Amino acid sequence: MTQAWRPEGDDDSRRGGAAAIRVRVPAKINLHLGVGPLRPDGYHELNTVYQAISLYDELTARRGDTLALTMEGEGAGELALDESNLVIKAARALAAYAGVPAHARLHLRKQIPLAGGLAGGSADAAATLVACDALWGTGLGRDELAGIAAGLGSDVPFLVHGGTALGTGRGEAVSPVLTKPVSWHWVVAIADGGISTPQAYREIDRLREIGAAPAPLAGTDALLAALRQQDPAVLAAAIGNDLQPAAISIRPALAETLKAGERAGALAGIVSGSGPTCVFLAADADAAAQVAAALDPSVCRLVHTAYGPVPGARIV
Ligand code: C5P
Repeated sequence: MTQAWRPEGDDDSRRGGAAAIRVRVPAKINLHLGVGPLRPDGYHELNTVYQAISLYDELTARRGDTLALTMEGEGAGELALDESNLVIKAARALAAYAGVPAHARLHLRKQIPLAGGLAGGSADAAATLVACDALWGTGLGRDELAGIAAGLGSDVPFLVHGGTALGTGRGEAVSPVLTKPVSWHWVVAIADGGISTPQAYREIDRLREIGAAPAPLAGTDALLAALRQQDPAVLAAAIGNDLQPAAISIRPALAETLKAGERAGALAGIVSGSGPTCVFLAADADAAAQVAAALDPSVCRLVHTAYGPVPGARIV
């Protein structure tokens, strides 16, 4: 008896769908994060400019008889893999929307830290939507997937699209920022432990209430103009984050991380999203490598260099 040769993992191809779908998804940073007032629904009105950068998680989806998730890398052993996991929620949301059974074996390889201000969980949810859409042959367009994504978290629609984009509402309403194809070079300094996003938002509300927060950022016009100029020194002067004082108040050591990056030659540094990751803009790839090498392990746990913008969740 002869057996047909099949590539590894292709044992389910006869059931009609693809065998193993691998999706790569980037981290996000906010070049501008303007936080407005707290809304009645518990979210803050945002005015933000997102950028997807080349620090990636990878999600592989295979056919299965139930829904199961395994993981390796950043946060393995710390992150629950049950129904509370945003990956499982994303798979269930897509299955319910498309009217198909939520059956898949999902495996996550994480590089993006948990609760780091880089939208790692949101990235994984976006990757799940793209992977399961291909695995189940539901064939939804990116805009339709972004619609489902909005129900999963404020940053998830952006990570379906990627690139550089303006975010409004609670961050879920994204429109692309069209710029010339220039790459910006970043150094990503990852801290020990995380900061919970709700905690950072509560802290900025508290600091504002007691008059201890700086004036909120103005609109995104200056940042968008700086992006068009394609000059890292100009962009460096325009980046800003209203949540930064909150993150520093929760984790005072971040002030030292920011100073260390600038001492190491970065053009500017900000806390990424709700922190505690700090990101530094460098003049070019060589300068980024130099800043990364000079960042002392005493001020952060791990350093990556990355460039942006890059596309959102994509099959590889
Ligand atoms: O949308 P997501 O689930 O990622 O948000 C997590 C939490 O962050 C929210 O429950 C809320 O406390 C806070 N948040 C906010 N305003 C936003 C986005 C998030 O207050 N625009």
